[in-house]
Amino acid sequence: MRSIFRKGLAVVPLLLVVALAGCATQSGKPTQAAGAGKASDFSEWPCLSTTLPCGKIPNRKPVKQALAGALNGDAARGKALANERSKGNCVACHQIQDAVQPGSKGPDLTTYGTWGRSDEETYALVYDMRWRNPDTVMPPAGINQILNDQELRDVIAFLQSSK
Ligand code: HEC
Repeated sequence: MRSIFRKGLAVVPLLLVVALAGCATQSGKPTQAAGAGKASDFSEWPCLSTTLPCGKIPNRKPVKQALAGALNGDAARGKALANERSKGNCVACHQIQDAVQPGSKGPDLTTYGTWGRSDEETYALVYDMRWRNPDTVMPPAGINQILNDQELRDVIAFLQSSK
């Protein structure tokens, strides 16, 4: 009786691990079947692996994307997107206004609006930093479809309003 109870307890952490693994795959693309032992399908993404299918897809070329027309961004929405861990996640690397637990890998952007940068240049940099710095660690939010055109405009409007 006692040993059955012990075995029952040992199953609890295992279940927890399986449940957590399931949660971790909820938000990210591509989707992964929940449960241990199933291989992830990363075949539609470029990656640095020499063994996975994604390692055979060439990286997308850097693009200096032009901003079409006026910015027309919503700063409040942009602020939310920049903070949203599953979206822009700019706070992973940048200090931005009112950020909670921001990272410090990238430059402090809390007063970006005073830098005098144009909307066009800012848009192109956030779209794909690699045209300016081929070795950047900043994810190309436009090229990699992390943010769509309107979301990029909103984030740029937020940066430009940061004074
Ligand atoms: C993984 C870290 C990382 C993330 C995430 C990140 N950045 Fe960056 N960012 C950097 C680094 C590092 C630089 C400095 C330039 C470089 O090294 O390429 C930078 C530079 C910039 C610059 C130009 C600043 C300058 O000095 O010219 C802007 C604007 C910017 N980031 C905005 C954003 C926005 C908006 C987001 C979210 C959509 C974001 N970054 C997400 C790391 C990051």
